[in-house]
Amino acid sequence: MRILNASGCLDALAAPDIARQLDAFVTKTVTPLPREGSAPPRIAETAHGMLNAIGLANPGRDHFLAEHLPRLGELGVPLWVSVGGFCADDYAETCSRLTDIEAIELNLSCPNVDEAADSAAEIVAACRHATELSLYAKLSAAHPDVAEVARAVAAAGADGLSLINTLRATALDKRLRPVLARGSGGLSGPALKPIALHAVSVCAEATGLPIVGMGGIGSGRDALEFAACGARDIALGTVLFADPGAPARVRAELAAVCADLGVATPDDATCLAKSPETERKVHA
Ligand SMILES: Cc1cc2nc3c(=O)[nH]c(=O)nc-3n(C[C@H](O)[C@H](O)[C@H](O)COP(=O)(O)O)c2cc1C
Repeated sequence: MRILNASGCLDALAAPDIARQLDAFVTKTVTPLPREGSAPPRIAETAHGMLNAIGLANPGRDHFLAEHLPRLGELGVPLWVSVGGFCADDYAETCSRLTDIEAIELNLSCPNVDEAADSAAEIVAACRHATELSLYAKLSAAHPDVAEVARAVAAAGADGLSLINTLRATALDKRLRPVLARGSGGLSGPALKPIALHAVSVCAEATGLPIVGMGGIGSGRDALEFAACGARDIALGTVLFADPGAPARVRAELAAVCADLGVATPDDATCLAKSPETERKVHA
């Protein structure tokens, strides 16, 4: 099991030593044009997790490719570039200009911008034509049937899935006004874990694709739960804001919890989490 960061939760150029603890570094989502993002306040803590409405603030494709990517390459960590846009051509154009990286993660699920007009499958199909690099589709658990979306992006040529993005949410201040200037944002942190585990489980069963699981992972035990539900790799997001040493800690805890449960590797945990429903289907 590889440990990555969740997109947008680590600035590798500002914190290269944290990035070097990872098996691969995932960039903040890059869009064709520079974006300032949403007006402040755009981050809030709630009793249930963190709320953000960053709004995909990023320097834009040209600046990222010319300035950021070469410097990220010097870190010596395999790179994944998170690609965003507002139509299939936006995504495909960025994909066609990426080389010398390990994978592309297509952000098909940002809750803080208006959604792309094209469907997730149309975007993946356009990107598939534009690049031979490995393509991971990052999906939202807000869809009523995330497994159906997973099947559609798999048919369109995705090599893997990243699950899950934040979920749209609102927090109010003492005077009952929304805390975030945008009104709503994306909820992340421990509250997401049960939702993410379910999404990983049904998408693994629906597609058999490799999955990077994320959503509230803060310990080795959490990471193993994702493996048990079918994730091949995991990503750390919100936990990195509170504990920059989380990648090394989670890796050590994962080894210890595997030993406790008597599983040789996280992959061996997959069979432990089969729900009675899955078992029935497997044996039918
Ligand atoms: C401050 C912040 C910024 C984020 N920016 C992005 C982003 O640019 N692209 C993306 O795909 N996901 C973004 N996410 C979502 C995370 O990558 C991840 O899917 C989500 O936070 C769930 O993981 P967690 O609960 O471990 O944080 C962001 C999350 C946070 C908290």
